[in-house]
Amino acid sequence: MTYILGTKQTFRDADDAVAMEFLETVCDITALPEYQQLKQFRHHYGTTRYQHCLNVAWYTFLWCRNRGLNYRSAARGAMLHDFYLYDHHKEQPFPGSHAEVHPRAALSNALKFFDPDAIMIDCIVNHMWPGSPHRPATPEGLIVTIADKYCASLEFGTFAARKGLRAVSVH
Ligand SMILES: [Fe+2]
Ligand SMILES: [Fe+2]
Repeated sequence: MTYILGTKQTFRDADDAVAMEFLETVCDITALPEYQQLKQFRHHYGTTRYQHCLNVAWYTFLWCRNRGLNYRSAARGAMLHDFYLYDHHKEQPFPGSHAEVHPRAALSNALKFFDPDAIMIDCIVNHMWPGSPHRPATPEGLIVTIADKYCASLEFGTFAARKGLRAVSVH
């Protein structure tokens, strides 16, 4: 079942054409067993890397669609932007900072399992900007950087609120 943080959409209503198109755009990615492994990695404290990628892809899809951009490639790039299968607190496949290394690891996996176009590649390798010096070259890539930060805020805020409420209920 698909769930996106911050939306009321169920992604089960066949009359919701936008949600159905989103699912159709990303379904081959979510179906990949290696991609499913992202569910095993915690991300932004309270969510999984799988859920984070879905959140980023949905907002990227909407915002690019509303602006007449290539929303399908953008959403697919967003789905793959954090497609790295290791715990960065414990290991890294290349030397360098996490901000520099994990987009390259995600691109390596994207190239292994999919056939990313130039927009998707831009969305993946440059998504850490301005946290890394690699600025996106496309408007779709720029929107992924914004959606990534927006979703990280939502995810962390949800986690913090949950923790806060639990703390309040203890006293
Ligand atoms: Fe990332
Ligand atoms: Fe991310």
